[in-house]
Amino acid sequence: MSNLVAPSLLAADFSNLAHEIERVEKAGADMLHLDIMDGVFVKNISFGLPVVKSIRKCTKLPFDVHLMIIDPIKYIDQFVDAGADSISFHYESCKNHMEVIDRIKSHGIKACMAVSPETSAEVLREFKDKLDMFLIMTVHPGFGGQKLVESTLDSIRTAHEISRETGFRVPIEVDGGINRETLKLVTDAGADIIVMGNAIFTSDDPKSMIDFLREGK
Ligand code: DX5
Ligand code: ZN
Repeated sequence: MSNLVAPSLLAADFSNLAHEIERVEKAGADMLHLDIMDGVFVKNISFGLPVVKSIRKCTKLPFDVHLMIIDPIKYIDQFVDAGADSISFHYESCKNHMEVIDRIKSHGIKACMAVSPETSAEVLREFKDKLDMFLIMTVHPGFGGQKLVESTLDSIRTAHEISRETGFRVPIEVDGGINRETLKLVTDAGADIIVMGNAIFTSDDPKSMIDFLREGK
């Protein structure tokens, strides 16, 4: 099975978003990964609802919204209104996990839970029957352009095994530090959906990068 590819807009030229999105859409991206940071859950602020809403007009690509914000339940409805097709929230960002999952699913979109490198992928066990995806951060959330944290490869293997119990109905998404060198490590460990920021947006040939990611070699 080939991988799905989700370019992370965080690495795009923000002065020219429409053009940047068109470039990765034409290159064959499967979805667009949107990193939302609040400066509290992570030490960075990215972009928010008005940007998501306005770029919704530029593309037909599904929006894969990655919330790095505390108390995510407060903003689920608004991100759905802005155009989200899937929403990931962090396990570490709240206590009301089931309520957040139910709220996301009540809108008929995909619910995904994300874990930072220090959180065990075993948490998937409790939620596997409710989730549509499981996102393993392969770097510490907050910034693009970091080096992959090798210990997260074990987390991917663990999540892959747990996902197997659902008949692989819970695909494993990986995010951070993925490039031509680290791709094989994450796909061998069991990743299905590859998020990539810098390596796609700084590439002169995003199509060849996306083709490479899709083949998983
Ligand atoms: C980090 C973000 C990632 C990041 C990936 O907090 O969640 O999506 O933009 O960027 P690269 O591929 O450059 O590590
Ligand atoms: Zn992300």
